[in-house]
Amino acid sequence: MPLPARGRLGGSSSSEASMSRRLRIGIVGLGRLGMRHAENLKLRIPEADLVAACSPVEAERQAAATLGVCRVYSDYSSLLADRDIEAVFLVTPTSLHADQIIAALDAGKHVFCEKPLALELADCLRVETAAAKRPELMVMIGFTRRFDPSYRDAADKIAAGAIGRPYFVRSQTTDKHDASGFFVRFAATSGGIFLDCTIHDIDLARWLLGAAKPVRAWAAGTIALHEGLREFRDVDNAVATVEFADGQLASFFASRTLAHGQDTHTEVFGTRGALAVGLGARLNRVDIFDDHGMRHECTPEFFTRFYDAFQLEAQAFTRAVLNREASPLALADATEATRIAIAITEAYRQRRIVEIPDAR
Ligand code: NAI
Repeated sequence: MPLPARGRLGGSSSSEASMSRRLRIGIVGLGRLGMRHAENLKLRIPEADLVAACSPVEAERQAAATLGVCRVYSDYSSLLADRDIEAVFLVTPTSLHADQIIAALDAGKHVFCEKPLALELADCLRVETAAAKRPELMVMIGFTRRFDPSYRDAADKIAAGAIGRPYFVRSQTTDKHDASGFFVRFAATSGGIFLDCTIHDIDLARWLLGAAKPVRAWAAGTIALHEGLREFRDVDNAVATVEFADGQLASFFASRTLAHGQDTHTEVFGTRGALAVGLGARLNRVDIFDDHGMRHECTPEFFTRFYDAFQLEAQAFTRAVLNREASPLALADATEATRIAIAITEAYRQRRIVEIPDAR
């Protein structure tokens, strides 16, 4: 699947670069998602050479060594001092992203960093300033869904006018209930359900509506199961509405407590039709007919649903760096997603409609 390149980074360019050599990558953070990225980079991305890993947790370092990663560090500054590493993959708590991206740029490394870019607008802008000073280095934030083949097909069809003018996106990021309490511990650094989950839907809405400009937001939330979230001013189920300029609208639902599975999907309504991505959240094409009726199994968690997208995303980053192309995803889009998620969070916490001023 070809991905768009938005111009080139400085220096000589060669589209053969990705054929002739591999990008030497160090991964930072080997938790729930980091280990998945590490396996992709090690086993499934031919253009990537995962040469190092970093985690403060001994068991995670051992897991990286078992995967065959040759240099394993316990602290980030040691990994950054490794001159052999050309790019870092940051899969760390969101509260660390901004400082870790800037440190990597200072050390002369390209950066892939998981979403969201940061929890505060000022931190996003600090990263943008640091990135602008190093135009030869790439910074890409992992909005995975932009690499999902179905979302990309929907975006292409909308751009080709298949549903006329899109005016409404209804999108949800909803996880299967995890009784382990992971999300309660995670809430301390995630920024809450809107910055952690709804951020995906916000980015999708802007993309599918055509870089829509937000005007105002409203939100509400509830704790259905995880009382422990209260101390973080977080919730496990939430809704939000964003009004964009020119009459475009978006409505979001986020949940951490669905009984049936990871049921993430999106609908886009236009003047001549509508498109839906992921309705039904099927695990596969098997239907079961038994004394429960007619049914099918649901995707159990996000990684199963977006398995291909995570690979295509890592490949897009790696190829773009090797070919000296600009980032497949603009940093400004990541900043805008955080800005909107902050407005939504404020609307929920202050129980009011929040006006969103023009950006910059
Ligand atoms: P996690 O809590 O399971 O893992 C965090 C990792 O960071 C752990 O390995 C931990 O040891 C490591 N770490 C903590 N402090 C560190 C430090 N100072 N230096 C180096 N490593 C450090 O969290 P999870 O779920 O893996 O999330 C990580 C990031 O990935 C978050 O930003 C999250 O928003 C994002 N994410 C993105 C998803 C997507 O769909 N694109 C899905 C899930 C998570």
